[in-house]
Amino acid sequence: MRTEELLKYDNQHVLHGLSVVGQYQDYIVESANGVMLTDTDGKTFMDLSSQAISVNLGHGRQDIADVAREQMVKLTYAMILRGFVNLPSIELAQKLATIIPKGLEHFMWTHTGSETVDLAFRAANLYWKSKGTRKYKIISLYNAFHGTLRSVTGASNVNKGVMEEVPPAPGHVHIPNYYCYHCPYDKEYPGCGILCAKFLEYTIDNEGRDSVAAFIAEPIQGPGGFLTPPPEYWSMVREICRKYDVLLIADEVMTGFARTGKMFAVEHWNMIPDMMALSKGIVGGYLPFGALAMTGEVLEGLSGHFFPGGSTHSGNPVCCAVASKCIDIYVNERIPEHVAEVGKRAKSRLEKEFLPLPHVGKIDGLGLMLGIEIVTDKKTRGLPAPGTNELIQRRGKEKGAYFRVMQNKLCYSPPCTITQEQSDRGLDIVYSVLSQLKAQDLT
Ligand SMILES: Cc1ncc(COP(=O)(O)O)c(C=O)c1O
Repeated sequence: MRTEELLKYDNQHVLHGLSVVGQYQDYIVESANGVMLTDTDGKTFMDLSSQAISVNLGHGRQDIADVAREQMVKLTYAMILRGFVNLPSIELAQKLATIIPKGLEHFMWTHTGSETVDLAFRAANLYWKSKGTRKYKIISLYNAFHGTLRSVTGASNVNKGVMEEVPPAPGHVHIPNYYCYHCPYDKEYPGCGILCAKFLEYTIDNEGRDSVAAFIAEPIQGPGGFLTPPPEYWSMVREICRKYDVLLIADEVMTGFARTGKMFAVEHWNMIPDMMALSKGIVGGYLPFGALAMTGEVLEGLSGHFFPGGSTHSGNPVCCAVASKCIDIYVNERIPEHVAEVGKRAKSRLEKEFLPLPHVGKIDGLGLMLGIEIVTDKKTRGLPAPGTNELIQRRGKEKGAYFRVMQNKLCYSPPCTITQEQSDRGLDIVYSVLSQLKAQDLT
């Protein structure tokens, strides 16, 4: 009864983002610990999504809560706008510099992924202005997600235009994404010659090299369904951006902080972007926080110019202290290595046991960011009808697991701290849902 009343109140008074207004879930999470969630009816279920693929270190860690409490008592707030400085912000910069790919040791703090991407665009604009040009176009991929702020939805194209603002923010250009299973060019890897990367060069050239400020992409497309690029993609893109003087922004908001089995996904391809957007895992999802990392060259371009970004909470001491603590945990508990190991076994199970199922078309992803593509038919690779995602998620919940189906991919992304035994248990639930799927469920 309590749950019913609460849900009714919620429905009438709280708008939920990235949802159809008024169409919300029928359960309320009340507490969580490790990989387990408990709802207001006392039912428990596994969090195989890490919520927004953000609670990388698991729920309810006392050591993280202790750091937040201690910092709150010591210094809750001291701004870093207008040239002011605080200690946790500097300490965090020093710590982040020890794990970030070499060259990217300059930071600006934010609160969300969207804000970080917004700052990256602003930094790109200012950088080119400082060089005496007004390059302004941002190239991004179809099926990309870079956030929901008005300034960044122009670059987000997930869900075929659903994100679009009207009138749209100007200056955004999209190119086809990497997606070998449904190649936009109808080619096969490797005979394709990695056309998806080459098309960036074609686009920059045709848009006018003097007008393109930056190219942004996720190292692995996240909300687009955990898609991995072909192995050559990132080195080719890096080369093209350098050749045409276009800043390369890697959006690691979801992939960063151990999720893919490396601390940062770009490490899989030894690629150093000019800027990197971070959020979610930087604080294990415990607080709203993020960071824009940039190279010394970008920083030098911005130096001496008024930077028109930042907010009241930039460099919030509690967020910075929690982020420092999380970095200690990622390093000391060898979380990226743990993810690589548990993820390897998970992927092998998916390929051996799940792929033969009639409605599983493809296994994709890295580490604990694994996508299971659901198709109506393996030959035609047909897409399931709208509404299928909710059906599959609901069945998972009934069997004791919360996971998300994004696009037509069941996304397996439990907390990076999940044990081998828990991961096997979670996959057993996913298997039981997928093996019971019937053709009529998908049409
Ligand atoms: C790759 C990527 N960029 C940006 C964002 C936006 O982050 P936020 O929701 O914190 O604004 C997300 C969120 O899922 C994301 O996955």
